[in-house]
Amino acid sequence: MSVIVEFLEFIEQPRQQSLKGLLGRVLNKAREITGAEAGTIFIRRRRGASEWLEARSVQNERIRLNKSDFRIPLDPASIAGFVATSGETVIIDDLYDIPGDLPFSFDRTFDITSGYRSRSMLAFPLVNLDRKVIGVVQLINRRVEGTDQPQPFTDEQADLILPFNHIVGRVVEQAEMVEQIRTKNAALRSKNKELIRHRKHIENLQSETEDAFMLSIQLLARAAEIHDEGTGNHIVRVNEYSHYIAVKLGLSDKYCETIRFCAQLHDVGKMSVNTAILTKAGALDEDERVEMDRHTSYGHQILAQNDRLQMAADIAIGHHEKWDGSGYPNGLAGEDIPLSARIVAMADIYDALRAERHYKPAFSHEKTYAILTEGDDRIDPSTHFDPAVAAVFRENHNEFERIWNRLAD
Ligand SMILES: [Fe+2]
Ligand SMILES: [Fe+2]
Repeated sequence: MSVIVEFLEFIEQPRQQSLKGLLGRVLNKAREITGAEAGTIFIRRRRGASEWLEARSVQNERIRLNKSDFRIPLDPASIAGFVATSGETVIIDDLYDIPGDLPFSFDRTFDITSGYRSRSMLAFPLVNLDRKVIGVVQLINRRVEGTDQPQPFTDEQADLILPFNHIVGRVVEQAEMVEQIRTKNAALRSKNKELIRHRKHIENLQSETEDAFMLSIQLLARAAEIHDEGTGNHIVRVNEYSHYIAVKLGLSDKYCETIRFCAQLHDVGKMSVNTAILTKAGALDEDERVEMDRHTSYGHQILAQNDRLQMAADIAIGHHEKWDGSGYPNGLAGEDIPLSARIVAMADIYDALRAERHYKPAFSHEKTYAILTEGDDRIDPSTHFDPAVAAVFRENHNEFERIWNRLAD
């Protein structure tokens, strides 16, 4: 009884033990109880239709072992195979003298190569809760004090082992499952790490692509205004006024961010206008004026090719339209003009008034504010601008001045 209790306590002890560690401890304990100087624990393995026994723990007090993992077929030709397939306990007094009527024989290869002499054996199965054999314990050469030769194992010893082989079997099975789960977890973890690395790489690429996209747009906008005298940071400020108006109008974050980089492209079509017209010092004649006004349609042609630049295309073609329909190129009125273009129209004109151009000096914020709210001989704000956009300017005009000052040339 005390042996069983001791064994149970021993088995239950270390919860997080590896299968290999557990089997080593089980084999040690079984040898300690029976006096065996050597032993092997086989675990039943299966892959697809084939099954075999795998030696997972091998101990021998007398000789150095150089291989501990090997496999044998799951058939009754060997002693372990017989125990595994029949579920029976086997006691052999001399392995070199096995009675001829038994189905198994002893393989002497190990003894021949190692010089060891296997003599007595006790082999019993490890069974799980379903009574299925999941492994075999082989104990070899029982040593008894005061004798030179190994002694036979006894029926009493077999009976002592028998009651708890299924407990050991259960624990071994559990440990085996834990081991499989650990292996799978480790594989999943490394797969996961790989995925994270992969995702980071893609994110980097995306962010690089995004940077390149933004840079191309800035360069495009800069290239377009190269002939416009004294425009400097004009396009950057137009981005900021437009973004500010969009935020004040309560538009979505995505809309506000999009107009912030699309607004600068409003005059991109000037790249397609004859340089002689763009750089002409005096007033343009009628034909030249018509060609100059086409920068709106040219810009649309350039930008409409890109899905992400649809808003920029709207702005390019619509930023010279007026609320009352008197603008160009299409004479659109009211909400037929894209909202983004109505916003940029205000931003563009505020900045143009503040800046010095060859046909006008730079105006102060106060003068600009007066023109954009009360009008002058060129601009009538009540017919030119979307009233909602005009209201944002009127009520927050100081913010336009702040943007001008912050991004001054
Ligand atoms: Fe323009
Ligand atoms: Fe402009």
